[in-house]
Amino acid sequence: SNQPRERWGTRAGFLLAAIGSAVGLGNIWRFPYIAYDNGGGAFLVPYLLALLTAGLPLLIMEYVVGRRYRSSPPGAYRQLSRPAEVIGWWQVAICFVIAAYYAVILAWAVRYVGFSVNESWGDDPNAFFAGDFLKAGEPGTFSKFVPGVMWPLLGVWLVTLVILWFGVRRGIEWANRVFIPTLLVFFGILVVRAITLDGASEGLNALFKPDWDALTEGSVWVAAYGQIFFSLSIGFGIMITYASYLGRKSDLTGSALVAGFANSSFEILAGIGVFSVLGFMAAEQGIGVNDLATSGVGLAFVAFPQIISSMPGGAFFGVMFFLSLVIAGLTSLVSIVQVQVAAVEDRTGLSRKAAVLSVGVVLTAVSTLAFSTDGGLTLLDASDHFINQYGIALAALVSVVVVAWALRRLPLLQRDANATSAVRLGRWWLFFLGVVTPLVLGWMMVDSLRTEFDENYEGYPTSFLGWAGWGVAGGVLVVAVLLSLIPWRRHGDIGGPAADA
Ligand code: PHE
Ligand code: NA
Repeated sequence: SNQPRERWGTRAGFLLAAIGSAVGLGNIWRFPYIAYDNGGGAFLVPYLLALLTAGLPLLIMEYVVGRRYRSSPPGAYRQLSRPAEVIGWWQVAICFVIAAYYAVILAWAVRYVGFSVNESWGDDPNAFFAGDFLKAGEPGTFSKFVPGVMWPLLGVWLVTLVILWFGVRRGIEWANRVFIPTLLVFFGILVVRAITLDGASEGLNALFKPDWDALTEGSVWVAAYGQIFFSLSIGFGIMITYASYLGRKSDLTGSALVAGFANSSFEILAGIGVFSVLGFMAAEQGIGVNDLATSGVGLAFVAFPQIISSMPGGAFFGVMFFLSLVIAGLTSLVSIVQVQVAAVEDRTGLSRKAAVLSVGVVLTAVSTLAFSTDGGLTLLDASDHFINQYGIALAALVSVVVVAWALRRLPLLQRDANATSAVRLGRWWLFFLGVVTPLVLGWMMVDSLRTEFDENYEGYPTSFLGWAGWGVAGGVLVVAVLLSLIPWRRHGDIGGPAADA
């Protein structure tokens, strides 16, 4: 049971995997709209400050914890302090929920690669998406399976699990070496096509025109920090897991800077592409860009199909766009599932392949049963909202407060990073991570709770939000507590310098 822990093949391999995890659907369909909606060009100010004062400091913390304790989150937090193990399991459980629905969005995108070829959505992409394709019913319904989602979903799971089966170096690293350059090429082609469309400049104007007054609004700052946390995938153990496969002497801060800036660059590139396309459509229809600007599922699966239909060479553009979504999402999905695989390996001493199989069977079953039905769309929407607000953001807040204040481990982690890193962590790191990050996250928590009790999310029925929202977010915490209470009799290869407690 005690095989030595796996290692990345090269520093570039680790970096590509970290970038692959960060760059996902959020870059393509979330950032452009959030920036547009929160001050346009002026949004870049709070956004960059959020990156520097909270995003990068927390990313660095996760890298150091992962490398130092050489374990997935439960084992890493357990070595920080026995009761803190529950934070690790919380992160693993959050990853389970996210993986279950993230794969579904990839399955939709896979279908839309095919739909793009004949523009199967006809002239009402909205009705096509919710009706013909998803057969969406009332929130909370589970009356039938939707084979058009189930089959591609099983395919997505098969590909993901095969990558993980081959392990960190020959699976994850290899996949990212292939996928990230491919994504860059595809996306580059898309952006060049987008900015050469008629009307593109109108779209770019709408996105980047600075509204400086926006900076006086608290909600704009909340949006900036929220985007950074989501986009860097920090706060739920992915980077702890990936960094646990680093060598003892690897550079940490330099890697974090590269990954953070690569993710943001990709985000801005996506903003340029998406808003050029919206500008084209607005000019075409003689309406304002503001009538078209939207984000998330509606942007990718309703607005884009509409635009693709009215674009010269639209089929090719559509295929490239949905393939980009699939690739960007796949490397993120691989990273969240690896958190669970690593936790099972570390905790039980099972081999990697056995861990992939057990995690894979459970995840595939839950993901398919819960989300490829006529209730899938609304369930996905609700679980996504609640797990983001009261899973990811709350877990990030708790982990920072525990590490910085309850355990007071930041100086220790700082020395650990500085021993091998290119960029030295100064006192600024302690301040940003120990003071700024918890304050901002705490404020975000109060803010979103207030909205929650003001009105039901998306106007969904209270009983539905009770189980699909609060139930899911609370459920992961209960599962985490239970898992952390089981005593460890055996485990795999975890273990950093436990002696310094
Ligand atoms: N960081 C990813 C993005 O920007 C989001 C993500 C969420 C990735 C959850 C993995 C897990 O899209
Ligand atoms: Na991202």
